[in-house]
Amino acid sequence: MDAKKLAAESAVEYVEDGMTVGLGTGSTASWAIKALGEKVKAGLHIQAVASSVASEDLAKQYGIQLTDFSELSRIDVTIDGADEVDAQCNLIKGGGGALLREKIIAYNSSQFIVVVDESKLVRTLGKFPLPVEIVPFAAELTLKQLKNLGCETSIRQKDGKNFVTDNGNLIADCFFNQIEVPELLNNSILLIPGVVESGLFLHPKVHRVIVGYADGTLHLL
Ligand code: A5P
Repeated sequence: MDAKKLAAESAVEYVEDGMTVGLGTGSTASWAIKALGEKVKAGLHIQAVASSVASEDLAKQYGIQLTDFSELSRIDVTIDGADEVDAQCNLIKGGGGALLREKIIAYNSSQFIVVVDESKLVRTLGKFPLPVEIVPFAAELTLKQLKNLGCETSIRQKDGKNFVTDNGNLIADCFFNQIEVPELLNNSILLIPGVVESGLFLHPKVHRVIVGYADGTLHLL
């Protein structure tokens, strides 16, 4: 069985009737959206908010009712993937470029459940280049400031052009190799003018990580 699918489908068990659900982005989160869609078809009543245009489209396709942020009093549970997870439940996210919306939704959720396959588990974060969303204005200067923090960085490209986020911004992919103290690095990144958000999602805002294994087993962090 697909380990991402396994983890995503088990996370959907935390969704109860009447809940407002945050929908993540990426291949693992997509499995959760599809599984939720099946439950909705079977009679589950939920409303959802999506962390990307792609997830919004998928939710609509699966008949999940989307709500406006202005109508929201709370988000009960959000299910999302990750690019790296350490043993303290710190994450790197943003491989799909949706980190800003993902972080806003995660931050405002009573429960933030992360679903990954075993390939995402690491001892120390940083082998996966850390995505940082930056505004296009003076992006070269913002890149220089990011480099001063000890990484190699470049603006993410797609089809020969700068990748543009759902918010009209750019992504600087920052290769640190080893991020020893994620909190310190996150704070330093957020102090740079031009930075909108970093892809470091830190404990205790990450409430639960469900890891799927290729042999069909699950593990909770
Ligand atoms: C999207 O911006 C990301 O944060 C994804 O959640 C992350 O890249 C994991 O993606 P997969 O589930 O496709 O591996």
